[in-house]
Amino acid sequence: MLTPARWILYVLFAGMCAGLHAQPSIFHGADLKLGQKLIDENKCVECHASKVPGDGSAIYKPKGRINTAGLLRGMVEQCNTELNMGMFPEEVNAVAAVLNKNYYKFK
Ligand code: HEC
Repeated sequence: MLTPARWILYVLFAGMCAGLHAQPSIFHGADLKLGQKLIDENKCVECHASKVPGDGSAIYKPKGRINTAGLLRGMVEQCNTELNMGMFPEEVNAVAAVLNKNYYKFK
């Protein structure tokens, strides 16, 4: 029988699961702390802020040509290669996951 107490537990649990899966599957297991550290170390924001008005986040355009999680990761990989950042694939993935969580919000 679905007592009110059980119903509340069920809703809480379903909500938790939805929260866990808010990121696209390619970002599951990404190390967000590492991603943020790499963003700080590689001066992503400093450079972006010199190109667009404001704090630099205006460079991230979720409605622009980067419109899927895969393209976002590809863009970070491209910067990684062009700017010789030397990030490993899982590091690129972590950086893209942070950008997705904070700005792009692809499902
Ligand atoms: C030396 C300057 C510079 C650095 C450093 C840099 N970027 Fe960029 N980045 C740019 C410029 C310029 C653009 C805009 C390119 C365009 O629109 O064609 C851009 C665009 C982007 C975009 C695409 C935005 C969009 O939605 O179209 C992403 C994502 C991005 N950068 C991520 C990063 C990350 C992550 C780092 C650090 C690991 C980084 N960039 C470091 C200059 C830089």
